This record gives sequence, C-alpha cells and structure tokens, in this order.
Amino acid sequence: MFLKGKRIVLGVTGGIAAYKAVYLLRLLQKAGSEVNVIMTEAATHFVGPLTFQSLSRRPVAIDMFQLHKDMDIAHVSFAHWADAIVIAPATANTIAKLAMGLADNLLTSTVLDATCPVVVAPAMESNMWSNPATAENIERLRRRGFFIVGPEAGELASGGAGLGRMAEPEAVLGCVRYALSRDGVLRGRSVVVTAGPTREAIDPVRFISNRSSGKMGYALAQAALDLGADVTLVSGPVHLAAPYGVQLVAVETVAQMQQAVLEAIQAADALIMAAAPVDYRAEHTYPQKVKKEETGDTWQLRLVRNPDILSAVALARPSRLKVLVGFAAETEELVANALLKLERKGLDLIVANDVSARDAGFGVDTNRVVLIDRRGGVESWPLLSKEEVAMRLMQRVAELLLRGE
Ligand code: CTP
Repeated sequence: MFLKGKRIVLGVTGGIAAYKAVYLLRLLQKAGSEVNVIMTEAATHFVGPLTFQSLSRRPVAIDMFQLHKDMDIAHVSFAHWADAIVIAPATANTIAKLAMGLADNLLTSTVLDATCPVVVAPAMESNMWSNPATAENIERLRRRGFFIVGPEAGELASGGAGLGRMAEPEAVLGCVRYALSRDGVLRGRSVVVTAGPTREAIDPVRFISNRSSGKMGYALAQAALDLGADVTLVSGPVHLAAPYGVQLVAVETVAQMQQAVLEAIQAADALIMAAAPVDYRAEHTYPQKVKKEETGDTWQLRLVRNPDILSAVALARPSRLKVLVGFAAETEELVANALLKLERKGLDLIVANDVSARDAGFGVDTNRVVLIDRRGGVESWPLLSKEEVAMRLMQRVAELLLRGE
C-alpha cells in the first residue's frame, strides 16, 4: 500500500480529458491517498466541480481569492500540505505557464510554491503537442525535475488521430507512485529483476513453457522501484502490465533471457532471478508447422538442457554486483534442496517455495516462502500476498546492499 496516507493535490485544467481525472481521483482514493482537487476556471467548463467535490468529500478549490475557513492563504496551504502534485489533464496553456514560472491562478501558484514532486499528464491536439513552443516547455519542465507521463497516440477530441491523448489514469497513478519513491533507500542503485516463464519453440505454432505467471517478479520490480531503485525488468511472455518506471526488456527464450541478464548486470548492484526459465528446449526446431501426417500417432521429441542463467552470472559477476538472489521451486525437501541450489549457484539469498501447495507458487496471488541466506539462516514467512513477500525481500536486499558499503 505504497500510496496509503499520501497527500496528493490533483490539479485539473481545461481539456476534454478532464473526465479522466475523475477516474484518477477514484484510483488515488482506492490506493488510500488523501486528495485535494484544484481546478482551473477553464476546467469547470468540462466537468462540474460538484463531481470532484462529491467524490473527494472535500471542497474543490478554484478561486485564488476565495476565503477558506481553515486555510490562511490557499496556495501556500496546498503547496505545504502535498506530498505530490499531479496535473491531469495538463493543457498546453498550463504547461507554458509552468515553464515560465507564472502564478496567475491557484494551481500555478501552488506549483510554484511547492517543493514536492510534480507529475504532469499533458493532453492536447497533436499539432499543439508537436509545436516547438510546447516541446521546449516540456523539455524545461523535465530539466527541472517534473515528471511527464504521456501523452499517448490515439483518437483526439477533434475527431482526428495522433499524439496528444492524456495517458490512461492507471499510468498516471503509476507515475505518481514512481515520483514519490525517488528518494527511497535504494536511490541511485540499480536492480535487475527477471520474471515469468520462457518459451522454447518446437515449430512456428508450438512451444515448451511452464506455469509461471510472472506475478512474483513483477511485484519485486515494483517493490524495488518503491524503495527508489532504478529497475530493469527482464520478462518472459506474461499477461501483466509493467510497473511504471521500469526499463522493460521483453524476451522469449532462455538464450535471450541469458543475454539480456548478462548485459543488464554490467551496471547493476543486485540481481533477483524470479523467472522460471524453461530447463529444456527441443533439440531441433522445425521451420514449418509439423503436420500430423508426418508424425503419426506418436511423436518423439528430443530435449536438450538449456544453460543455467544464474551459473553464467556467477562466472561473469562484475564486482559492482553485490547481491544475487535466486528462487527455488520445489515439490519436496524444500529447505535441503534450496540450500543445495544456493551453494551450487553462488547465491546470497534463496527464496524457496513449495509449488505443490495450492495457495503458493505459480499463478496465484499469495506465496508462502522460506528465506535462506548464505550463512544457513532459515526463516519461514507466513502466507503473504506476493506484494508483501516482494517488499520484505527487497528490504532484505536493501539491507545487504547498504551494509556492503
Ligand atoms: N534458473 C536459471 N536458469 C535456468 C533455470 C533456472 O537461472 N535455466 C534460476 C531460476 O530463476 C531460479 C533458480 O535458478 O532463481 C532455481 O530455479 P529452479 O527451477 O527451482 O531450479 P533448477 O536450477 O532449474 O533445478 P531443478 O529444476 O532441478 O529443481
């Protein structure tokens, strides 16, 4: 619950995408944040303040000179209250004002007075977006440390299509989370996480894979981001959205995953191998679909061992890479088998889970793991959500990294 209790000012400016800000408000509230909404006068022509007021259960601030019962000067109060400000949608006009440092309404005054992170979700016609004036303004904001999310390509209010649609509220929420995490304990550290299964082709339509969903690895990537790290996520094929702010490297086979990992660890402080690479691949891959007439009633496939990525990492380990974490998916002798793997693969920590349990391991949202360290310390964690396992594990990784200084 990273966003729980966080104080967010949601600034809404005058664009057709203002309706998306209503959903963003709901997402922020669902995540447990406290939200104060500031609208520009123009925004009130698109969505009524009453909508935001009813949903946020707080007065919506619009007028700079309105007298507030419990606030001396509204913009100063908001600027000091907020942990983050998010402007969604942000019109070209408001972006230009921010770039100039204008303070001509409650929202721009608040931003100018604030020291917290500011997230900007631009929304405008594509010509306005590609206009050099806007491009320069955005560049200025970026240089000053503003977080810019989107815009995306798609249908625009004019009926045309192009770059200029406001990013989806989920992405804006992800960006707020990212912006709030940047001064975490792992600030400046680089963490590589692998996730998901791999796929080893037999022919153009068939492949060998396994039941890994990628949930554990994606939760770990998010936890590392939440602690402030720069995160590279090397992922096999999964049905999950990458957390906002990761550098995603999408791979399919073990060979591709190995290459991506060996590249990524060159500048990394920690590697968490949560992926489930397929251990065997077909010795022979067929360029065309194999027809049943060719194989008959039985089809014997010869499988060959895939390389072990962690062993390759142990051999090529750059001196900066201080922490190596592996997982052990077992169905029997959990601790004994995991300890053997930890030693064989030269790991600092291994997370063992019994994949035969119904509430842990592949595909489900919870996990029950045993954490084993290099000195043989064994800790059994209770049944937790994968997010909780991920945060606990990343905190251990952070301890190891910080202690290593
Ligand atoms: N792993 C790896 N390369 C592979 C297979 C697995 O780096 N080709 C990593 C996994 O990401 C995990 C750890 O090794 O962190 C253990 O994976 P697991 O499948 O439990 O063990 P294996 O080494 O494959 O041994 P076995 O299947 O015999 O239990």
